Amino acid sequence: MVLENLKLSQFRSYDYLDISFSPKTNIICGKNAQGKTNIIEAIHYFSTLKSHRFVSDKELILTDKDAAKMQISFQKEQSERLHKMKILLSKNAKRELYHNEVKEDNASFLGQFHSVLFSPEDLNLIKGDKEQRRKFLDADVCQIRPRYYKILKYYNSILRNRNKLLKEESPDPALFQVYTEKLVEFGTEVIIYRALFVERLKETAKKIYREISNGNEELTLRYESELFDEFVEDRTAIRGFFHDKLEKVQKEEQLFRTTRVGPHRDDLEFYLDNKNVKIYASQGQQRTIILALKLSELLFIKELTGSYPVLLLDDILSELDRERQESLFSYIKNCQTIITITDAQKFDVAGAKIFTVEQSVVTEN
Ligand SMILES: Nc1ncnc2c1ncn2[C@@H]1O[C@H](COP(=O)(O)OP(=O)(O)O)[C@@H](O)[C@H]1O
Ligand SMILES: [Mg+2]
Repeated sequence: MVLENLKLSQFRSYDYLDISFSPKTNIICGKNAQGKTNIIEAIHYFSTLKSHRFVSDKELILTDKDAAKMQISFQKEQSERLHKMKILLSKNAKRELYHNEVKEDNASFLGQFHSVLFSPEDLNLIKGDKEQRRKFLDADVCQIRPRYYKILKYYNSILRNRNKLLKEESPDPALFQVYTEKLVEFGTEVIIYRALFVERLKETAKKIYREISNGNEELTLRYESELFDEFVEDRTAIRGFFHDKLEKVQKEEQLFRTTRVGPHRDDLEFYLDNKNVKIYASQGQQRTIILALKLSELLFIKELTGSYPVLLLDDILSELDRERQESLFSYIKNCQTIITITDAQKFDVAGAKIFTVEQSVVTEN
């Protein structure tokens, strides 16, 4: 994947931006709050159709304007034809997506442009709350399995409706039954998509962790659900567990008036030598785990699509010590990277294209 160009109109702090990237290393320098992350956010949006800062589309539009436009041109492989993608965000209308001038729906738009983002917030992934880990899984499953976007959206809307019904004084039993059936059907799909993604990352993450840490500790990723101890890809079995569990918590649900089982409560867990790292991992171990996780994602996308995703490193290099930086660079030699740093730091990457950003004006050095 090679991102050639990004154009933004009325996106975040940018009234207008037109920036062309090198197919290798790009470094964007600037002090705080100048507009570095806004660029990274725009690029990553094409991969996941969401802001990685989990804000609504409205907040992405330049203050006091009604619409924003984002455009990229990229090659899936070097010397292949250029793809053009465009996103229109509007305060008063539905988002519009275009691929090579053809209007597309979410599922066909996703899965075209791949990028992996690594930012300082990711370092809280292990000790942060479950929701953050689910969001990490969901965003990345979407870009790899575009069908998942719709399934997740549908599940969330059924969940909202079922919760609304649970809050009513005397809920319609037939309608409740319909929502419960749909909850199980789509919830099972959500679980399968997420757990298979974790399964795919698992082996690579383990290998990379061992290489980076030079140690003997074994990293294990695990998709955690109240429905089973170990995930097995068996749709009928998972639906059965889901139904059984819902029956068991029926009273609880009536008492708390909310859905008490399902993938909206699941988690991604990390173990080192079978010990849950949430409790005891040092900061250094956490950093290495997240680095291994991101790199395994990068390699998984390469395996799946035949080309490396664009790697976006937002303000992260200063968080990694020299050794971890070197491990990172050894894995990403063949992939296009866009790195943001603040002025104070110096990173000498031979042949890198360097930009400076000041008050949302980008200049090439
Ligand atoms: N919708 C918006 N309209 C105008 N300015 C915005 C909008 N969203 C964010 N900003 C501005 O963007 C700047 C932050 O940009 P960001 O890319 O996060 O900075 P950094 O260079 O630190 O990564 C802030 O000055 C903020 O006020
Ligand atoms: Mg930033």
